[in-house]
Amino acid sequence: MKEQIREAEGTLGILIPGLGAVATTMIAGVESIKKGLAQPIGSLTQMGNIRLGKRTENRYPKIKDFVPLADLNDIVFGGWDVYTDNVYEAAIHAKVLEPGILQSIKSELEKVKPMKAVFDKTYVRNLDGKNVKEAATKYDLALAVMEDIENFRQTHDCSRIVMVWCGSTERYIEQEDVHENIYAFEAGLKNNDPRIAPSMIYAYAAIKKGVPFANGAPNLTCDIPALVSLAKEMGVPVAGKDFKTGQTLMKTILAPGLEARALGIKGWFSTNILGNRDGLVLDDPDNFKTKEVSKLGVLEDILKPDERPELYGDLYHKIRINYYPPHGDNKESWDNIDIFGWMGYSMQIKINFLCRDSILAAPIVLDLALFMDLAHRANMSGIQEWLSFYFKSPQTAEGLRPEHDIFKQLIKMQNTLRHMMGEDLITHLGLDYYQDLVEAL
Ligand SMILES: NC(=O)c1ccc[n+]([C@@H]2O[C@H](COP(=O)([O-])OP(=O)(O)OC[C@H]3O[C@@H](n4cnc5c(N)ncnc54)[C@H](O)[C@@H]3O)[C@@H](O)[C@H]2O)c1
Repeated sequence: MKEQIREAEGTLGILIPGLGAVATTMIAGVESIKKGLAQPIGSLTQMGNIRLGKRTENRYPKIKDFVPLADLNDIVFGGWDVYTDNVYEAAIHAKVLEPGILQSIKSELEKVKPMKAVFDKTYVRNLDGKNVKEAATKYDLALAVMEDIENFRQTHDCSRIVMVWCGSTERYIEQEDVHENIYAFEAGLKNNDPRIAPSMIYAYAAIKKGVPFANGAPNLTCDIPALVSLAKEMGVPVAGKDFKTGQTLMKTILAPGLEARALGIKGWFSTNILGNRDGLVLDDPDNFKTKEVSKLGVLEDILKPDERPELYGDLYHKIRINYYPPHGDNKESWDNIDIFGWMGYSMQIKINFLCRDSILAAPIVLDLALFMDLAHRANMSGIQEWLSFYFKSPQTAEGLRPEHDIFKQLIKMQNTLRHMMGEDLITHLGLDYYQDLVEAL
């Protein structure tokens, strides 16, 4: 496989629908890193290492020195938003990063001006931007996005482009017949079927243009058979859904540990307050529902209550998100976990995480963009389950249970990279070390 991976030559365009808190924090971070003003903390592509071969070989290179990733200096950013603010203005508005650091990269950020968005207020009621495309049909809107992609490619002389959805969470919808196959989907685009969300229009346009697409929100977007099969047909990687940050990150770190020790869990109550624009959008019950569904699946999947009713059969899992403007992007979350141990004796765990949502999400966007580009150059297409590590609600093939345990997700990702580069997969069995020892005696 290694020989077939195309080099990361030329410019990589990263196109982002939704230039809000997460996207601007990521772009500002990359520009600061390029100038030596900051470190890419939290990014596996930039700071992560990977073990190769046996433990005795002591090979532990940086991931970026092991797989051929695009260099940060070869990246150019673009995107769409319903507001006209350029990335500098949007970053100031988001209040995630200090004005001083933004000032030092102002000229780079000001260059990124949002293209007109594909937007439908019935999907995000709490937003009211005017930087929106108008067209007779959803199909025309898709064509307009394809034209944007092409113009961007030519203007910036990109050799490759990837797209990462950082737009607001859309209202909850379920898969229906219009999403079943590409014929129904394209007919739906042409007759303005209300069940086709704006994010699906971007995803369709990207895939048609051979552009890998990752979805950072919990919306269905490319998690529908029509777009999965189109991605396969076009040889394009897709991945989703919902960046794994904050409370869910903690959940997928802690729950596998409790489960590994066969400790029971009676209840897990998660609540948080946040005051950014994401919080405002999620204040609408229809949009919250999309997020809730994405967050709820995590515990059930790690703990498998059906198979272990004595430990997890009575698990009560509750999630609350509260819009609280004074906290801005600095989300504060509380988890109360009621667990029980030997002979059923109860214990409690309390977590109070004072996190910064976009600081946790930004490196995920960068990693996804670089890995999706790598996957495309390695001729991998369709759902990229090996990137589950980054998602709250990993997209998988139909009928396949997603893996939520962050440690298994990491092993899966690292083994995929080893597989791509022709290195031995690591099973962590380790018996061979002892076999060698016996033979040496
Ligand atoms: N921050 C995190 O930790 C985190 C974690 C998981 C998922 N997410 C998801 O990532 C997304 C972005 O989060 P954020 O904090 O940056 O939110 P944000 O509100 O600051 O940014 C979203 C941006 O998308 C724009 N937008 C909405 N609909 C659009 C459309 N159809 N086309 C183009 N632009 C559109 C909005 O105007 C806004 O500027 C949200 O869906 C959020 O739920 C964030």
